[in-house]
Amino acid sequence: MTDGDDLIEREKRYEAVFSKKPMPIVDGDGVYVYDEDGNEYLDMGASYGVMGVGHANPRVVEAIEEQARSFTYAQASYATPERAALMEALMDATPDALDRLFLSNAGTEVNEAAIKFARGSTDGDSTGVVAAKRGFHGRTFGSISATWKSKYREPFAPTVPDFEFASYNDVESLKETVDDGTAMVLLEPIQGEGGIYPAEADYLSAARDLCDDHGAYLVFDEIQTGMGRTGEMWAHEHYDVTPDALTTAKSLGGGLPISAIVCTEEMTEIPKGSHGGTYCGNPVAVAAARAAVEYTVEENLPANAARAGERLVSGVEALDTDRIVDVRGEGLMVGVQVRGRAGRYLSGLAREGILGLTAGTNVIRFLPPLTLEDEHVDEVVDALGEVFG
Ligand SMILES: Cc1ncc(COP(=O)(O)O)c(C=O)c1O
Repeated sequence: MTDGDDLIEREKRYEAVFSKKPMPIVDGDGVYVYDEDGNEYLDMGASYGVMGVGHANPRVVEAIEEQARSFTYAQASYATPERAALMEALMDATPDALDRLFLSNAGTEVNEAAIKFARGSTDGDSTGVVAAKRGFHGRTFGSISATWKSKYREPFAPTVPDFEFASYNDVESLKETVDDGTAMVLLEPIQGEGGIYPAEADYLSAARDLCDDHGAYLVFDEIQTGMGRTGEMWAHEHYDVTPDALTTAKSLGGGLPISAIVCTEEMTEIPKGSHGGTYCGNPVAVAAARAAVEYTVEENLPANAARAGERLVSGVEALDTDRIVDVRGEGLMVGVQVRGRAGRYLSGLAREGILGLTAGTNVIRFLPPLTLEDEHVDEVVDALGEVFG
């Protein structure tokens, strides 16, 4: 038994929820992670898109250290220098029309906040939430109620009432679903877990118009797509549509748990004290997020994501193989749909020293650090050539 196997066994013995991948991670540096046995992996999954600024990003590490030495916690009703600075940095990086924000800890929590803000701020009896088929929004009750795949909902039924699904990229389906009882339409500008499906421009415009016509809020879940991943700071910037709110998490914290909903003031008209949370905007995660946001903007990571993503897509498209059905995505959010199951190709990639993700059963998904360079892209394309044989 190697040291790595021992670690896996120790966790498996008590783990309630997660299965364990065959490589434990004991170290990280930029686009690489390392296992207990000293093997290096190019991290093309970035732990589900969290490590946008790269592992052990020095700027983030320094911010965490400095804050932790000063004080590690002050509840969000006490203003702190780092939180004020993060709020300003996030406001600078988001659409001008959005002028309020709420910090929380995980992606699902800010989707919950969106649902509560929307229901709490709409007039009269508007309680409906319209989400998209194939969409994913997290694992707490509001979020699973807006999540399409039955495996996330049915074991825990009954879910929250008044949630409906429209087909993605189908304007007619959206028109049939949104009405005066709708409080909010919740959409991913590019569906991630569902298989990397970018929205069509007319679909998002129709969602905007329908929300305006029926007095509903349009919320974009940018938890996976945001923070520069798709080649713009926010994926919806590829489209000419401004939402009433966007939710962000994952890359926001440079690896620490933090999330935000950024929204219009109108959407926050809920009774004082009716929403909150003990750890909302906790100083250490906030300091990490401030560093991650500033690094993303100053280093222009969205531009690098666009450039590296284009190289990756064109490299994969040029592979001489009949195993690929489709290659799609934006920037460094890339899906390679394959014939058969994606999992076996991921095992092959891991043997070549590359970690990827699946999206559904037949899509290899790449969400690497946005600091990815040409040599890494070429390494991935070569390895894919090997595993497709
Ligand atoms: C689009 C989207 N929304 C929400 C979530 C949930 O985020 P978290 O796991 O931080 O609660 C995810 C996580 O994968 C996601 O991809």
